[in-house]
Amino acid sequence: MSRGLRAAAAAAVSAVAAVAVRDLLQRDHALLRNFPVLGHGRYLIEAIGPELRQYVVAGNDEERPFTRDQRRWVYASAKKENNYFGFGTDNDIEYTAGYPIIKHRTFGRAVPLSNPSAGYEASVPCAKILGAARGRARAFRPESVVNISGMSFGSLSGAAIEALNRGAKLAGCLHNTGEGALSPYHRNGGDLVFQIGTAYFGCRDEQGRFSLERLKDLVAANPVRALEIKLSQGAKPSLGGLLPGAKVSAEIAETRGIPQGVDCVSPSRHAEFSGTDSLLDWVEMLATETGLPVGIKAAVGDLGFWDELTTLMTTTGRGVDFVTIDGGEGGTGAAPLIFTDSVSLPFQIGFARVYRMFAERGLHEDVVFVGAGKLGLPDNAIVAFALGCDMVNVAREAMLAIGCIQAQKCHTDTCPTGVATQNKWLTRGLDPQLKSVRAANYIQTLRRDLLKVAEACGVEHPGLIDTGSVEILDGRTAATGLDEVYDYRPGWGLPSKADQETVIALMTTSEPQGGSAPPSAEALGH
Ligand SMILES: Cc1cc2nc3c(=O)[nH]c(=O)nc-3n(C[C@H](O)[C@H](O)[C@H](O)COP(=O)(O)O)c2cc1C
Ligand code: SF4
Repeated sequence: MSRGLRAAAAAAVSAVAAVAVRDLLQRDHALLRNFPVLGHGRYLIEAIGPELRQYVVAGNDEERPFTRDQRRWVYASAKKENNYFGFGTDNDIEYTAGYPIIKHRTFGRAVPLSNPSAGYEASVPCAKILGAARGRARAFRPESVVNISGMSFGSLSGAAIEALNRGAKLAGCLHNTGEGALSPYHRNGGDLVFQIGTAYFGCRDEQGRFSLERLKDLVAANPVRALEIKLSQGAKPSLGGLLPGAKVSAEIAETRGIPQGVDCVSPSRHAEFSGTDSLLDWVEMLATETGLPVGIKAAVGDLGFWDELTTLMTTTGRGVDFVTIDGGEGGTGAAPLIFTDSVSLPFQIGFARVYRMFAERGLHEDVVFVGAGKLGLPDNAIVAFALGCDMVNVAREAMLAIGCIQAQKCHTDTCPTGVATQNKWLTRGLDPQLKSVRAANYIQTLRRDLLKVAEACGVEHPGLIDTGSVEILDGRTAATGLDEVYDYRPGWGLPSKADQETVIALMTTSEPQGGSAPPSAEALGH
């Protein structure tokens, strides 16, 4: 053995001995005290467990929140690569209770185009005009039924926000700012929904109080098309937000109007209203002062709030222009496990309960319903549209499109792909220009798939898919219609007759229609 090798071996033995001595003397970890050195193997495997399972052990449909198949579909769609799957489904359809089946029609009214990539460039606008029912000055028809959900600058990097905003412009959809204010990265051409959270970031004064003047200045200076008041979010209802001090960079401090490097806490309640009645007063005040449509975002738990809201809307004439329902399966930058796992209802159950309350009081046609909670996957989105959603918001699926690998380290500031970190070295890897195209490709592909499924069901637009087009399997031998599962009456889940006619006209005049090959002489009766 050469002298160099001998020295290296001696150094390695000394290092192991030092670790062993430290393990034996420390008192924090019983495992290391009992098994010095060897015990570290267990911590290493625990640390790389998610990656080991993701790449080596787990099957195509096992992982959560998104399975490998779902991620593969998003990645391929975002790169405009072949996103088809071969040899048939590997889902356990026959034995999975709750599996939704969409029922195509043999001779439907709408005829799909035959070219597999047809519909990619199609515009699929919202079937309702946002703010029209309540006569808002700046009511408008959103251009896209798929939009980007609220994710703050702070939980996401500036590069990620820029990629999403540019992507929103390319795909012609709305980009929700999330509660962390409107940053320079949101100013890259995409239309915005400005979210107002409990800390009033972006529209607060030096004492942290809501400032109408600042809100109006912000709306005047930016392409803000609507305001969303955040009441709660599916992954952490009833909790305020916390952005750890390590993530509060100078830029974030400037954007939010808070001190740098100090934990940034969003309170758990709003200061501007304390109940449903004062909430509605505030909604009307914001709409009058800005002219914008105003909505609320909430997860669904106890129905008392919704009962009161719909009753007050019926009896007082005040009301929200849109309602965003976030499912308990929704994502977040960081939250306690008990809240992400167990507080608030999953999307379908929660949404259907709320929709029914609006429908029972005859309000459903005058409100735009937006859904979120893994609705960036076509099958989930179709069920949402059948239940009455007019638009879906996508958050984590859009993150996947711009490079997220589901490492689930968003809360640690060590995101390896630069999506959910403020670490300059890590965000360097995310090219906003390139990833904006990926975000847009993904949104366009999802819209295309929704359109194709709508046409397969015989209708011209995803918003026209009714509950009769979906059944929920109950094992191998039984299935129940969506209307029966969620106790819907005929016509619920659809826009008003007038809105249906308008959207059919929009879809059939602007898009080429499908058809057959030329008929034979026999078919023509010659
Ligand atoms: C990193 C991250 C940050 C988020 N920040 C916000 C936020 O600021 N405001 C909000 O209402 N929802 C926030 N959400 C929730 C999403 O907007 C969305 O409602 C939820 O993730 C469900 O959509 P998804 O299943 O498509 O991810 C965040 C989600 C993620 C993953
Ligand atoms: S790669 Fe991991 S840490 Fe980064 S955004 Fe995705 S899930 Fe979060």
